[in-house]
Amino acid sequence: MANIDDLSTGLKQAFIQLIAKQTGIKIRERDRDALSENIFLRMKALQVAFPEDYYQLLNSKTLDSQQEWQKLVVLLTNLESYFFRDKEQFYLLQSKILPDIIERKQANKTIRICSAGCSTGEEPYSLAILLKEILPNLEQWNLLVLGLDINKEALQKAKIGTYRAWSFRNVDKLIKQRYFQIINDYYHIAPQIKPFVKFQILNLVNDPFPHPSSDLQDFDLILCRNVFIYFEPPAIAQVLDKFYHALQPLGYLLTGHSELYGQTLNQFQTNVFPESLVYQRREDSLGYPYQVSFPNNLTGYLEENLSLDMNRTTLERDLEKNNLKMQQSALNLLKQLPADTKLPKLGNLTAAELILQLESSLNAINPDSL
Ligand SMILES: C[S@@+](CC[C@H](N)C(=O)[O-])C[C@H]1O[C@@H](n2cnc3c(N)ncnc32)[C@H](O)[C@@H]1O
Repeated sequence: MANIDDLSTGLKQAFIQLIAKQTGIKIRERDRDALSENIFLRMKALQVAFPEDYYQLLNSKTLDSQQEWQKLVVLLTNLESYFFRDKEQFYLLQSKILPDIIERKQANKTIRICSAGCSTGEEPYSLAILLKEILPNLEQWNLLVLGLDINKEALQKAKIGTYRAWSFRNVDKLIKQRYFQIINDYYHIAPQIKPFVKFQILNLVNDPFPHPSSDLQDFDLILCRNVFIYFEPPAIAQVLDKFYHALQPLGYLLTGHSELYGQTLNQFQTNVFPESLVYQRREDSLGYPYQVSFPNNLTGYLEENLSLDMNRTTLERDLEKNNLKMQQSALNLLKQLPADTKLPKLGNLTAAELILQLESSLNAINPDSL
């Protein structure tokens, strides 16, 4: 039987490419040793003697191959998640996005939400809880929050809906009391929330999505956070196109900050809020140039927080006023815009020029800040 040192650089590279093609997942330089260990772990479990044979198994279009991918991705995926993970985005959901969806859906009282890359379920349950907070008569609505993930073991935990205190780093005490039963230090999701949330195994890159005559279509909102950071750029583009088709016209897409940096987003309208960028499927995307919408408060926000006079004195003054964090969050927003977006109120610089200017100034004043 071969051992871990027998995995040649060429074969390792072939595994890396196959993984990217099949799952979108990028194996970073620093994860390469762990990849070799995982390959040998799986070979040992299957009693496959040579890495070449294991590669052939993964690369074949058989049922055995499908089953083996499910085992391998458990070793390759990062499942980090917790309830109401990004406070600012959840604020935006509560104050703007969900109220807008609710208003548009008053007639048929149907809301369809997808949490893509939902891990162990904290994100989809948070969304259902938030809707229950906004809509006390939720039972009269037809709500579906669908959690999708490639990792079968994560979904098994999600379906059970039982969590440790660590999943509640960011959660209001009242929300915990209202929506969880605490038994022996375990938090069980309340029966009033569970029926609204379903889970399905799905590989965002290679499985059909959207899918007619299934739940995998017509979403009002797709949340895909902390998934694309692990992806190769071509896989992100592929999944973005699927999201476009899986959304209803005017449906929303929310990703993690900066996760779509450098991607072409012609099919979406980009709405910029201080808390986050929000993408919205156009009613009809054909022939539209890329368009960014700045709500009134954002122009003010960028003007106030992105000083164009970035000399040392200004930045030091800002540091004293504790504005550095604001500049960094504005920088994060800028990074999500296409590089050539012009910002008329900010000296008519493009997003790329402004990022460059900001980064080099911030770096000069505080090298640890970026
Ligand atoms: C870090 S978790 C993010 C969980 C949650 N969205 C959050 O932000 O808290 C990333 C998840 O993406 C899933 N994932 C990775 N590649 C995927 C793919 N190709 N299709 C579906 N899910 C994938 C992983 O299994 C993992 O559960």
